[in-house]
Amino acid sequence: MNTNPSGTDTPQELRAGLVKQLRDQRAIRTDRVAEVIGTVPREIFAPEAQLTDAYDPDRAVVTKRDGDGLAISSVSAANIQALMLEQANPQPGENVLEIGSGGMNAAYLAELVGPDGTVTTLDIDPEVTDRAQRLLADAGYDSIHVETADGEYGAPERAPFDLIEVTVGAPDIPPTWVDQLAPNGRLIVPLRIRGLMRSFVLVRAGDHLVSRGYELCGFVPMQGAGQQRERLVLLHDAPTEEVGLRLDDGDQVDVEALRAALASPRQEMWSGVTVGGEEPTDNLDLWLATVLDGHARLTATIGARDKGIVASASPLGVGTLVAGGTFAYRTVRAVDDSRTRFELGAYGHGPAAAAAAASLVKEIRVWDQEHRNGPGAHIEIHPAGTPDSRLPAGRVVDKTHTRVSISWPGQQP
Ligand SMILES: C[S@@+](CC[C@H](N)C(=O)[O-])C[C@H]1O[C@@H](n2cnc3c(N)ncnc32)[C@H](O)[C@@H]1O
Repeated sequence: MNTNPSGTDTPQELRAGLVKQLRDQRAIRTDRVAEVIGTVPREIFAPEAQLTDAYDPDRAVVTKRDGDGLAISSVSAANIQALMLEQANPQPGENVLEIGSGGMNAAYLAELVGPDGTVTTLDIDPEVTDRAQRLLADAGYDSIHVETADGEYGAPERAPFDLIEVTVGAPDIPPTWVDQLAPNGRLIVPLRIRGLMRSFVLVRAGDHLVSRGYELCGFVPMQGAGQQRERLVLLHDAPTEEVGLRLDDGDQVDVEALRAALASPRQEMWSGVTVGGEEPTDNLDLWLATVLDGHARLTATIGARDKGIVASASPLGVGTLVAGGTFAYRTVRAVDDSRTRFELGAYGHGPAAAAAAASLVKEIRVWDQEHRNGPGAHIEIHPAGTPDSRLPAGRVVDKTHTRVSISWPGQQP
């Protein structure tokens, strides 16, 4: 049951306030998306949340956790819903599939495609679809088709889709999603590549997909046939002082050698490249994930940082170069007393620590000089088995169903 502790703002006022905040954040970029976010009653789709939480632009309402406490279902935060609606740009009359339900985003999609369009939303979890069905009926959205199914297989009987919006973190793109898109159809998907998740706009071009942009995002992980979690290997595991490496896409490391490396003194190297405290560095992370042959994300608890085992605490991890029994990770140091600007650098550990730190710093400088203000990475997703000769120059990440090509403007083969 929604409650409003401040007791002041009505849902209408909260909706108007939310639209303003999302415009300020640039999550809302068009009047069409502003209008639907100003229309759909969020509180109906998050009855367990306080009214102000339902209208908090940055807060997801978690509706289900697994046995380990990991969130596996939620009503997404308004800012990511808005960003993905902007990416998707649903048009009146379109046939849309949403993978991962909650009800609220399906309602936004239904508003955008209008009475001549169709929205199918599917979820693997019957509790989620029962809830979505009930809440959509409460809010008066009767024409949305809600289905319980593993999104890995799409919804073949309702294809082809002009737009597929995936609202769960995907480790790969199953062939069904491409096959069920109309020619030039759009797939909006939070795809994890080498441990980094971005919401990509991908357009179908025959048997493959071509990116038209991406945004930083975080999502609960995919379940079912397509489930593929990241691996965490621990380099230091004293209670509350954990340091680990997150590995993705089948990457392997020599754990014992790297544990010994972490215990050895570090070598540091600084780049001369500085960033503002609030400045996003997600494109630098994607650059490092593209160019480093051995790539992982170093994660650490606050306790590990406070003990001086690593430079910073980071649950999601920082970009790390791994080469045999050596690793070097990205870090920062304040360049002034006000701690508003930071210099990027690297800490290396292991037998080739200095060389690894230097390699990482070299790539930070390349990013700064050639890509920092550029359009970012170009992604193409081709079916597994596609020969290298058909892929753009750059990094190829091989997944179960696909070969993901990541290239940057001007990058040489
Ligand atoms: C973040 S929630 C979706 C949010 C929702 N679209 C909204 O309106 O805000 C992600 C959902 O994906 C579902 N999910 C996970 N794996 C799935 C799969 N293989 N197929 C379909 N749904 C899946 C989860 O059960 C969860 O309910």
